[in-house]
Amino acid sequence: MFLGTVAAAAAVLTTPFVSAQNLDAGKPPEKLFADGCSACHRSPRGLAKGRYALTLSWFLQDHYSAGPDTAKALAAYLVSVDTPPPGPAAKPGPKSAKSKPRPPKPAVQGQ
Ligand code: HEC
Repeated sequence: MFLGTVAAAAAVLTTPFVSAQNLDAGKPPEKLFADGCSACHRSPRGLAKGRYALTLSWFLQDHYSAGPDTAKALAAYLVSVDTPPPGPAAKPGPKSAKSKPRPPKPAVQGQ
């Protein structure tokens, strides 16, 4: 059958490309983390530690032999869920809660 031959040929032609594909490609980073990282890192939070996604992706490629695409996706994910560094606004201490209510400052500064 002509159609069958074409299909078989197509399958033979495309198979090498399919098998050469990165198996992690297309997986959402949450899944990548759950599959490959959660065994040792319970949470993706706090791993980026304020690093840039680019340096982080180098780290991941170096240490976990992740492909560049996987490393980039994971790095962006880690950065996006990273806990922000504690700043003055992030920790409402008992002081700020109990301090006297201040009247709003009039916004007249050189205008
Ligand atoms: C076999 C256990 C193991 C697996 C699996 C693993 N890690 Fe790690 N990872 C470690 C250890 C151990 C450290 C170094 C100790 C630390 O810094 O907490 C580390 C450190 C890191 C750091 C640096 C943290 C820092 O404090 O600077 C990042 C980022 C990281 N891992 C991400 C990942 C990602 C993403 C994956 C999945 C691709 C992964 N890890 C998989 C064990 C693992």
